[in-house]
Order: sequence, then C-alpha cells, then structure tokens
Amino acid sequence: MATDFTEETAADAVIESFAPDTNPRLREILVSLVKHLHAFARDVELTIPEWEKAVDFLTRTGHKSDDERQEFILLSDVLGLSMLVETISNRKFGVATESTVLGPFHVVESPVRALGDDIDLVKDANATPCVVTGRVVSTDGTPLPGATLDVWQANDQGFYDVQQPDVQPRTNGRGLFTADENGEFWFRTIVPSYYPIPTDGPVGELLVATGRHAFRPAHIHFIVTAPGHRDLTTHIFVAGSKYIESDTVFAVKKSLVVDFEEVDDPALAETWNVGKVPFRHADFDIIMQPSQ
Ligand code: BEZ
Ligand code: FE
Repeated sequence: MATDFTEETAADAVIESFAPDTNPRLREILVSLVKHLHAFARDVELTIPEWEKAVDFLTRTGHKSDDERQEFILLSDVLGLSMLVETISNRKFGVATESTVLGPFHVVESPVRALGDDIDLVKDANATPCVVTGRVVSTDGTPLPGATLDVWQANDQGFYDVQQPDVQPRTNGRGLFTADENGEFWFRTIVPSYYPIPTDGPVGELLVATGRHAFRPAHIHFIVTAPGHRDLTTHIFVAGSKYIESDTVFAVKKSLVVDFEEVDDPALAETWNVGKVPFRHADFDIIMQPSQ
C-alpha cells in the first residue's frame, strides 16, 4: 500500500528506501544528511523559487569549476565547512603544529628545490625579501631529517601562478624542500601580502549578498611529510597582517601566527643570499605528530 507523503514522514520515507546492504558508513552519512536537510527545509519553510535559486547557484558553482579552479572548495571554505572538517580530522595533539585548510591553489606540482633557494621565479623589485627558517621535529623534540616541505604562496600582488598564466611562469612561488640532517630547512621568498579569494563566480556573489569581505590575511602554505608521522597541511600567518582577525575562510589559528622580523644586518643578508637590506626573517619549528 502506498504511504502518504507528509512533512513529518518525508525524511523517514527516504531513509527507509536505502537498501539494507548499503555500505554502513555511506548509510550513516546519508541518513544524517537527509534528516538535517529535511529539518532545514522545514525550519526555513523553503519556497520553490528559493529551491530553484539554490539549484541554479550550485549548477553555476559546478560550471565555474575545472582542473585549476575549484569553486566548490571555495564555497566550502567561505561557509567554514573546510575548516570544520580539517579541525575534526586533525584534532590538536599535544604540542604538534596545528593544521589548517589546503585551499584551492595546490593544483601544480611544486618543483624540487635546494635548501636556501628562492621560490619566486619572478618578482617585483619593490617586494620585500624574506627568509624562512626552521626545524622539523617530532612531538618529543627529535629532529626529522629528510622531512619534505611543499611550500606555496601568492606573488606580491596576491595572485597565485595558476591565476595569472600570462603573467607568472608556472611554479612561481612554489618549492619542494627536504630538511637537512638536523631537520632544519630554510628558503627565500617575499613577505606575503593579504589577498582576496576569487570573487568572479557564485562564491563572490554570496560574499556580496551577505556583506562580507573576500580577504585572507598574509600567509605561506605548507604540506609537511616525515616517515612515521601524519602529514601536516598548514600555513604560517604574518603577525599583524590586515584581516588576521577576519579571514574570509576562517583558517587562522593563533599558534600559526609568526613574527616576520625586520633584519637590517648586511652580513646576514650576505649569509642568506638575500641581495638587499632590510629584509624579513620568519623562524618557526614544525612539530609533527607520530602516526600511531
Ligand atoms: C588560499 O590560501 O590559497 C585559499 C584558501 C581558501 C580559499 C581560497 C584561497
Ligand atoms: Fe593562500
């Protein structure tokens, strides 16, 4: 006998339609999703024009996405979902360095570079040079020689290489480094600047409609790996950067904010092959969490 569809029974009807041998985890996720989705539609009394608008928004979000532009990740980012999933998956473990979002621009394989190399292939002569140094260690302080650091950042105008294929060579602002026998690393770049996330798609419309700015505070991205340890996806943020208190993707954690100190010692500029003073120096340890 056909059952009557009502507002109250709708979610259960959908849930009961799932076959008993559905993958248990898929079932758990879908049951919860359907319950929350139906509760949401009832809560706001979603209208048909609103539902159509949402379908159109998501369709355009898909159309805006390709191999180098991920509008769905951007949507997840500005809704705080990416950071929530990241934080659930990488709960803080003692002293281990905290993680933060991957973001949509890790779409180019970083070129292998030697310690001390500059990750910027082209840069504005007015950009402030910067040296980043540190050590990769385990939670008990043991150095992790051979740890790899995949690093990427935007140029001095706040654009990643993939956003400006006609202006920047591919792999500009990217490098894959291997820590030395003491777990130490160092590389050269420019002081990062704050920048807006792409706003020429549906996510930009959402930001405008909700009166939000599009900016991220200045940062450098890292993915760090070391044998026997969990991979770490994180950033370092420039202390005092504009938007440090209002990152549009909610990705700032206080422990990741680092001083980029001004250095005006010509001898240090010589040692680090910086080329001019003053420059900035950021130093921090990356503490990796053992796998088990
Ligand atoms: C980024 O930092 O590259 C980024 C992260 C989330 C959204 C957009 C950009
Ligand atoms: Fe970024």
